[in-house]
Amino acid sequence: MYNQVILIEHPLIQHKLTLMRKADTSTTKFRNLLKEISLLLAYEVTRDLPLKYEAIKTPLAPMNAPVLAPDKKLVLVSVMRAGQGILDGMLELMPTARVGHIGLYRDPKTLIPIEYYFKIPEDVEKRDMLVVDPMLATGNSAVAAVERLKSTNPLSIKFVCLLAAPEGIEHFCAVHPDVPLYTAAIDDHLDEHGYIIPGLGDAGDRLFGTK
Ligand code: URA
Repeated sequence: MYNQVILIEHPLIQHKLTLMRKADTSTTKFRNLLKEISLLLAYEVTRDLPLKYEAIKTPLAPMNAPVLAPDKKLVLVSVMRAGQGILDGMLELMPTARVGHIGLYRDPKTLIPIEYYFKIPEDVEKRDMLVVDPMLATGNSAVAAVERLKSTNPLSIKFVCLLAAPEGIEHFCAVHPDVPLYTAAIDDHLDEHGYIIPGLGDAGDRLFGTK
């Protein structure tokens, strides 16, 4: 296993992920589960956020209490369209984060990612970036997205997915050894169409009910 890969094996995440994998899980349930898991992923991914101490008064006594350091700012970047499912959950926990979007589609024959949308906040150089996409399959999209986002000079980048294939992890870690990769599971392999096996199917279709 690569040092930069952080496998989040929390039982609540694992249980909810199993529900998401089931073929008969409805779109509504799938969407809610992804949102719930995203809250838990966000908890892990933000573990190292710095704190400062602020003088406050409780009803009983004054104290120096920890709050998030105000100069530590985040930008969440959703890799469209399935990234939206993680973004929604994370925004609930971190409502002041700014948001960027990158749109890539996979050429069905070559599986090579083509960029069709790119919009991120102007002050990205002052922000730590969390890039979210539920499925790390071939790694082509993740590698291309992170490459493009690195060119905007954020303070740091972390990549967060739900499920990864070993092939995708190898590809991502070879190209971006400096980017921590968070995932809740590492599955068996990719099929000939670039789908993760056993996986959960097409995350975008299941999230938006498009198939
Ligand atoms: N994208 C998906 O949505 N599912 C996969 O299995 C692979 C890529």
